[in-house]
Amino acid sequence: SLSALVLGIETSCDETAASVVGRGADGRAVILSNVVLSQIEEHAAFGGVVPEIAARAHADAIQGVIGAALHEAGTTLDRISAVAATSGPGLVGGLIVGALAGKAIAASRGLPFLAVNHLEGHALTPRLTDGVRYPYLVLLVSGGHTQILLVSGPGGFERWGSTIDDALGEAFDKTAKLLGLGSPGGPAVERRAATGDPGRFPLPRPMRGERRLDFSFSGLKTAVRQVAERHAPLAPQDVDDLCASFQMAAAESVADRVNLALERLRERFPDASDLVLAVAGGVAANGAIRNALERLCARHGVRLVAPPLSLCTDNGAMIAYAGLERLEMGRSDPLDAPVRPRWPL
Ligand code: KG4
Ligand code: ZN
Repeated sequence: SLSALVLGIETSCDETAASVVGRGADGRAVILSNVVLSQIEEHAAFGGVVPEIAARAHADAIQGVIGAALHEAGTTLDRISAVAATSGPGLVGGLIVGALAGKAIAASRGLPFLAVNHLEGHALTPRLTDGVRYPYLVLLVSGGHTQILLVSGPGGFERWGSTIDDALGEAFDKTAKLLGLGSPGGPAVERRAATGDPGRFPLPRPMRGERRLDFSFSGLKTAVRQVAERHAPLAPQDVDDLCASFQMAAAESVADRVNLALERLRERFPDASDLVLAVAGGVAANGAIRNALERLCARHGVRLVAPPLSLCTDNGAMIAYAGLERLEMGRSDPLDAPVRPRWPL
């Protein structure tokens, strides 16, 4: 038997998503459904997400996606105990669609409404998937965000470092675009890198050795462009080699930053026996980056938690789960809670 079923709604970027998550009698979270409708097709011709197209697509899809999430969970609104919706950060049009849909359901059923921060959803995912206990470190690497956070509770975040320019996923996406590989770029770059020589082109490792924990990727992106221009026109093997060289530089740059973070984690919690580094965000799919993190964690005696890919990328389950934790703390938000396109943790 499950307590407190929460319906979660996510519409902050280019996926319309809804999910039902509950808490089992043994205290573990249970994902009853997780429906994600991607808009990739709608945006493909434009080489990126077009906000107005995204908002309209969310409006068209939201009803059906919520219905599907309830249906797949084998439940109805009668058995839902709260509604959570991403209320920021993200594209304002999509946020309004998802938050309004959630508020309408909450209002008509007299249910609590939870205005969830999208980043908190990503940051709490290791608790949803692996029951990780507070505190833990999370590396959030997506198309819009690159941060290292110490998570000590819902709403309890210390940002240890973040990117000073491009997000890591953005660097992959821009590299792909530059090389004509289409979008989303990350998977395309990784595929080409598999048959490339990572030692062929020397590229910078931004921020290496810096004592502050921030990231930077725009210099790397610029270096890729310069190599591409110098070697134009690029043969297919050149593209493979450049992808491999870029991916290795990105992975080593991330590894250097995470190495410093793990040193600080150990200093902060010298006696902890189960320190955890969790990854979140779409770039967590990248094999080279995962391998680098595995090696680092092994060296530092820290457990690496890498949730399944479907829960690393944007989804409704992480929003439902963040809502569930807040609900369990006795929290809820008013129905006039604003959406916040910018909403740092
Ligand atoms: O978390 P996410 O689904 O959406 C947000 O940005 O919030 O992350 C998408 C990002 C994109 O930049 C995409 O190119 C990147 O994650 N990505 C990857 C890979 N798969 C997705 N980057 C590198 N390697 C991959 N295999
Ligand atoms: Zn995201």
